[in-house]
Amino acid sequence: MFSRRIPPQLEPNALSRAVAALRTRGAAIADLTDSNPTRAGIPYADDLLAPLADAAALRYEPHPFGLPAARAAVAADHARRGALVDPAHVVLTASTSEAYGWLFKLLCDAGDSVLVPRPSYPLFEHLTALEGVRARPYDLVWDGRWTVDVASMMAAPAGTRAVLVVSPNNPTGSYLSAEDLAATVELCRERGWALVVDEVFADYPLETRDPLTDIAARADVLAFSLAGLSKTAGLPQLKLAWMVVGGPAGARDRALAALELIADSYLSVATPVQVAAAHLLRAGGAVRGAIQQRIRHNLDALRAAARGFPACEVLRTEGGWSAVVRVPATRREEQLVLDLLAREAVLAHPGYFFDFPREAYLVVSLLPPPALFADACARLLRFVSG
Ligand SMILES: Cc1ncc(COP(=O)(O)O)c(C=O)c1O
Repeated sequence: MFSRRIPPQLEPNALSRAVAALRTRGAAIADLTDSNPTRAGIPYADDLLAPLADAAALRYEPHPFGLPAARAAVAADHARRGALVDPAHVVLTASTSEAYGWLFKLLCDAGDSVLVPRPSYPLFEHLTALEGVRARPYDLVWDGRWTVDVASMMAAPAGTRAVLVVSPNNPTGSYLSAEDLAATVELCRERGWALVVDEVFADYPLETRDPLTDIAARADVLAFSLAGLSKTAGLPQLKLAWMVVGGPAGARDRALAALELIADSYLSVATPVQVAAAHLLRAGGAVRGAIQQRIRHNLDALRAAARGFPACEVLRTEGGWSAVVRVPATRREEQLVLDLLAREAVLAHPGYFFDFPREAYLVVSLLPPPALFADACARLLRFVSG
């Protein structure tokens, strides 16, 4: 009855079932998977959302790419990181996920492929399948830092239309290095691929200096940088994201013309959030600062705690909202997280959710309140060290 874009199995996995069973019994779970900043005790000014009630939003002026003032505010915000962005190259969307959907419609016919990093963000599986597109992995390899295995990118099948990069990546935290960007751009040029860079966590550097950001604004192949209020201002509920389109002028402008048709068919971004965009981007700086402080504090606490457990290694976390801990592979990761939940009431993501190349890795969110985070990490490290 339903299309093959929908996975045949929709049942929750064993970990979700175990969490639901514990919650039904009223058990308190220390959730190290929660990456929702609005539930993490991050301070938000009471009047932060007041501009959503601006009377200017009573008027509906549909613009496929968004209201000019909102696009100008997004372009101006990029100057914070030293990038020069023309508002004419900014396309507003309701979410980064929607931006992916529009880009797959723009670049791919049904059955075409896009390259996606591995390990990375598990939603790619659905975002591609829902557009009738195949996700083909290329590998990130760990040798003290995560780098692109260019040979695995070169092995892309015919019918590949784009390469997706997440920088910093979720969950490895790795920013795309200048060398990996050069190799990726070279392949894009040779093979006619577009470059799609998810930079939703670009504002959250941790263990790095001078990370590369705003890649579409600097690329000389057709490129798209994706970001949004969800991460940059800790406001996922407002549903405002954007892409910056860059690259050689001819290709960029043809892409914009085609994207305009797609955007005009949806007109999905609500007017109040566009009217409020300039204010939200400015005032969101305080939320971003609080999140930055939180993730830095929690990463330091995790590193300090891990010093007492030499069998565990906290991998270098260049940026983003999560940390990866290599733990002894005493049992399969799935069993490990189920046992950790059952014995310690601590919930962590297993590495296989993100397609890590081998076991055992656990992924923890750096957002939870510090006391909960420190206690849960101490229990996790003790438990996995046996
Ligand atoms: C790498 C990455 N991209 C995109 C998103 C989703 O962003 P949005 O809320 O704008 O759809 C997430 C959410 O966690 C993410 O981890």
